[in-house]
Amino acid sequence: MLKRRIAVLVSGGGTNLQALIDRQQAGDIPHGQLTVVIADNPQAYALQRGEKAGLAVAAIPRRQMSQEQFEGELQATLEKYDIEVIVLAGFLCILSANFLRKWQERVINIHPSLIPSFCGKGFYGLRVHQAALDYGVKVTGATVHFVNEIPDGGKIILQKAVAVLPDDTPETLQRRVMEEAEWQLLPQAVEMVCAKLCEEQADRE
Ligand code: GRF
Repeated sequence: MLKRRIAVLVSGGGTNLQALIDRQQAGDIPHGQLTVVIADNPQAYALQRGEKAGLAVAAIPRRQMSQEQFEGELQATLEKYDIEVIVLAGFLCILSANFLRKWQERVINIHPSLIPSFCGKGFYGLRVHQAALDYGVKVTGATVHFVNEIPDGGKIILQKAVAVLPDDTPETLQRRVMEEAEWQLLPQAVEMVCAKLCEEQADRE
């Protein structure tokens, strides 16, 4: 069976990447093939996780170049590896509308809240969980969605709710959202999207 070739874009620790690697190794992503891990900085620990799993890795140092240059190199790397699906897994750069136009319904992001709460520009990392605690919500969660030109604004693929506990700090809440939602949802959503692309291809043939 033909698998859709996946690039995972990362900026940091890469626990969501690790969840994808683990689920792939367990046979839970039969329609997708993790192929290359691309970081926007060479220090991202996620690159080491990718290497250890035998994936191709690339670093494109965003800080040293313009948006246009960065996206040009990104596009070239994606083409080099014949990529069909892009997963943003803790990737902190905003991709331009111009870039995303070429990848409609092919770019997936994981966000650590129930969109449309606590999302959009400026809501990343611990800030998302701090905002949920400041507001006093009793339930938060994670959302996997397609990426369009509006930050966290694309079509929702999967969501899962997670309880906020009375003594939570941003750190404890972040950890619970990852364990109970993100690490499960992202591999599931990736498989769903890849399976749908396989189906569409079979219909065309
Ligand atoms: C996760 O909370 C993800 O939802 C967010 O950034 C964090 C990345 O963590 N976008 P990791 O690099 O996957 O460990």
